Amino acid sequence: MSAVTVTRFSRVTSSSNPDSIRIEPASAEDWRALSELERASFPGDRISPRSWRSFLASQSAVVTVARSVGAGLGSSSIIGAAVVLQRARTSVARLYSIAIAKSARGRGVSAALLDDATQRMRDAGAAVLRLETRLDNVAAQRLFARCGFVQRGRKASYYEDGEDALLYQKSLWNGG
Ligand SMILES: CC(C)(COP(=O)(O)OP(=O)(O)OC[C@H]1O[C@@H](n2cnc3c(N)ncnc32)[C@H](O)[C@@H]1OP(=O)(O)O)[C@@H](O)C(=O)NCCC(=O)NCCS
Repeated sequence: MSAVTVTRFSRVTSSSNPDSIRIEPASAEDWRALSELERASFPGDRISPRSWRSFLASQSAVVTVARSVGAGLGSSSIIGAAVVLQRARTSVARLYSIAIAKSARGRGVSAALLDDATQRMRDAGAAVLRLETRLDNVAAQRLFARCGFVQRGRKASYYEDGEDALLYQKSLWNGG
């Protein structure tokens, strides 16, 4: 993976990529691009366009996107997204989804989105960030392990095709 510099709310730059990448909260109009990213990233168990619209309007969902900003043209496109759910009156936050466009994988964008989500949840007072991932999703498991998540269990037949889920969590205290 190429070296990546992350500055929260601003730019992620990669030595192999002259364009800049911005990590920022999604806006209400992003639901179409988010639905398209979802369709291209997951064969099943997808977030529907309707659910994207309600996440974007919800107080308890934090949707962040990575935008690739093309040089000079002022154009940008969504190349990654993360959804974190905060349950009222608990200190547990849940990473509900993370996806990176195929053309943008292997550049550290997922780690930048995860770092940003982790910091937002820490700022919001959460103590732990939890997630589930498919047993057969080796790329995701490697990403989560590298970003400091530890495995805490397994749920049999969690996904609609019968695949098990691995449960991970990361403590948000002490920079954990
Ligand atoms: C999982 C995902 C978010 C990772 O994003 P990414 O930006 O490509 O992340 P990285 O390039 O850092 O790759 C993550 C790790 O998986 C490894 N990896 C990538 N593809 C792999 C594969 N097919 N098999 C095994 N390992 C793989 C990478 O080498 C890297 O491991 P490393 O940190 O030890 O080098 C991305 O692949 C994706 O969007 N997948 C589809 C949606 C998805 O599965 N989301 C996660 C749901 S929990």
